Amino acid sequence: MRLSTGMGRLVCGAALAALVAGCSSAPEVQSASAVAPADANSPEALLARMSIERKVAQIIQPDIGSITPADMREYRFGTILNGGNSGPYGDDKAPAADWLKLADEYWAASTAPLPNGEPAIPALWATDAVHGHANVIGATVFPHNIALGATGDEDLIRRIGAATAVEIEVTGIDWTFAPTVAVARDDRWGRTYESYSEDPALVTRLGAAMVEGLQGRPGEPRFLGEGKVAATAKHFFGDGGTAQGVDQGDVNGDLAELMAIHAAPYPAAIDRGVASVMASFNSINGTKMHGNQALLTGELRGKLGFEGVVVGDWNGHGQIKGCTNSDCPQALLAGLDVYMVPEDWKALHASLVRQVKDGTIPMARLDEAVLRVLRMKQRLGVLDGEVTPSARMLGGKWDRLGAPEHRAIAREAVAKSMVLLKNQGLLPLRPGARIEVAGAAADNIPQQAGGWSVTWQGGGELTAADFPGATSIWQGIAEAAKAAGGEAVLAPGGSASSTPDIAIVVFGEEPYAEFVGDRKDLAFRDEEGLNLLKAYKARGIPTVAVFLSGRPLWVNRELNAADAFVAAWLPGSEGAGVADVLFGKAQPTGRLSFSWPKTCEGAPLNSPEGALFALGYGLGFKAPRMAWAPLDETCAALTQDSGAVWFASGKLGAQVQAVADNALLPDLRGTGSGITATGLDRRAQEDARRIAFAPGAKLTLTGPESGAAWRIAYQVAARPGAAVTVTAGGQPLDITQGMSVAEGKGWREMVLTPACLGTAGGTLTFASKGAFTLQISEIARDEAAASAECSF
Ligand code: BGC
Ligand code: BGC
Repeated sequence: MRLSTGMGRLVCGAALAALVAGCSSAPEVQSASAVAPADANSPEALLARMSIERKVAQIIQPDIGSITPADMREYRFGTILNGGNSGPYGDDKAPAADWLKLADEYWAASTAPLPNGEPAIPALWATDAVHGHANVIGATVFPHNIALGATGDEDLIRRIGAATAVEIEVTGIDWTFAPTVAVARDDRWGRTYESYSEDPALVTRLGAAMVEGLQGRPGEPRFLGEGKVAATAKHFFGDGGTAQGVDQGDVNGDLAELMAIHAAPYPAAIDRGVASVMASFNSINGTKMHGNQALLTGELRGKLGFEGVVVGDWNGHGQIKGCTNSDCPQALLAGLDVYMVPEDWKALHASLVRQVKDGTIPMARLDEAVLRVLRMKQRLGVLDGEVTPSARMLGGKWDRLGAPEHRAIAREAVAKSMVLLKNQGLLPLRPGARIEVAGAAADNIPQQAGGWSVTWQGGGELTAADFPGATSIWQGIAEAAKAAGGEAVLAPGGSASSTPDIAIVVFGEEPYAEFVGDRKDLAFRDEEGLNLLKAYKARGIPTVAVFLSGRPLWVNRELNAADAFVAAWLPGSEGAGVADVLFGKAQPTGRLSFSWPKTCEGAPLNSPEGALFALGYGLGFKAPRMAWAPLDETCAALTQDSGAVWFASGKLGAQVQAVADNALLPDLRGTGSGITATGLDRRAQEDARRIAFAPGAKLTLTGPESGAAWRIAYQVAARPGAAVTVTAGGQPLDITQGMSVAEGKGWREMVLTPACLGTAGGTLTFASKGAFTLQISEIARDEAAASAECSF
């Protein structure tokens, strides 16, 4: 026992002394706090001194965006998180020092002495360090899991985990929501890149290695100690197995068969002592995981023997039938220990306290959940003498954040994850070559980092300045070319004037995260890279395609056009690892951890028959040169969908998404924050939608960017009660008048033009101040109408 919690805080004089001597057993501390017996800080002893209110607070996890240290001081939450879009003091791009400063503030608030012998228990802070501590500016950004899967290298992944843990601890954070051990089985899923592999055995191996890297090995003195953080195996279970790859969707099938694939990685993670497991958003055979007692308690606790903390996902409990974000005893009763409730923590606290008092929730279940949280704290050492985050051994050691030795590991990982899909004798590049590097992704660090990088979605407004210390793919190539006695020039759009020996074209997917990345098919539509490859070919210049993506995609056209093709995934901050392989400094040892699709439809693959390149594929430099039989370039989805049809015949366009706040409405159907969209018959069964807005609700549609107008076939049964607006990103346009006039007039068409919206683009948001129901049967982009006035 190191410190009598609640009896004052021990500050270890020298951090090193703390490590060696444990600050802990220092007898004068015990006598200074005088009264506490040696086991006064055991989870059981602490629990015995807690009120119902304090117990409930231990199992509530708010987001730093919605609680202040003063709230912490008042409520004493057990844990907090920063969501992908939250940073210290409301600043997503806050300097690293702010993270540590805020961690100290929460720590101080949670440990401020309480009256009447109530224990003051340090709060833990959790973050999504899913590919390095990438929420924080200046951290090493490692390749995403799909790339690590291609390395197949457990030792490497262990070292990545260890480096990540160090960077997390520098900023005063205790816990990461990683690794994702999803077994992605349908690459249309927007989180495929968070999955190591479609092969459960590989996910199991690499997931366990990541847990070891982050936490240390059970039994080791450093296990969960200095430089180590608590890990989370997520999301239990079935996240990668939803029908059509729809995020948060339903997983159907025989339970034992589903578990054999999707729960397979958990026993190994549990065996490594993983501190927490996150419940998944998805349902299994129609039942949401957060409310599934048979699986959370029966399987995870019972059969798999997990003794740590079961943490919920972002308002995941609110998705259980009969629950809201602020009222959900069902989740605790099913076996959840911690509610991740970013914003509605106050009301949830009140309802849970009430439900414990009225017997809806047995005290024993609450106690059990609280004990698990306290045991996690005990394992991390914070119950017995660990100090203020900034006073820990690594606290504020800024030279360890983005440290050269961490970046070296990341670069090694990038090189080991490159999968060579085609090579007509061009790679490795010959020394001395004059190289032109083209493609908008070539010198684009946000794009090579992907989602969960500084912001939740990544990309967008981010620039290289948000990744200090990072190296773009282009920069790596330029350096390598020079070192090999040649030269490289950057020509993002390709230059017609020069005649290089070789062109490297870097292109791929724009960043996305979670449901925003869900797709209807696997066609890679952006033709920028393809056009560059073809243009070089036409001039007789050999090309290397470097493809950035979060998943295998149908790129038959690009594969045909290029002389060499490298799948580079989402490499992160150390783009130089790409050049290491292109120039032969490293061998291409990466092998596909996902099968690569032959056709663009994107039905689940996972079988060699359907694959263009099977699981495990990847060429070495010594592979014999093969004649390239041109691949079939037909893809019905490409011609059927020009991107102009956003909603028709009851379906959203392949590239279109409907979102209500944070909830995805697949095919514009379902319930989100304040939006209820249901099927409606116009000309055919359910070919239209009835969209009910609660006061304050917003509906956002996103699709391909264009300068065209929107034509929307709609009907208004009852005029809006308050203002309704629409925006494409500019000033909101008030359409209350138009909607009122349309009342009772049957199906009509509204035309929203860039001229009257002030902008066009690819996003359209409807917002209603009052209750309002809009019926829609078609939405299309129309170039022809682009210059006209808006009409309703
Ligand atoms: C994601 C989790 C993540 C959590 C906290 C959720 O939306 O599904 O993977 O850990 O948010 O950011
Ligand atoms: C948060 C993410 C979270 C997501 C859930 C975002 O606003 O920043 O961390 O995963 O919402 O939908």
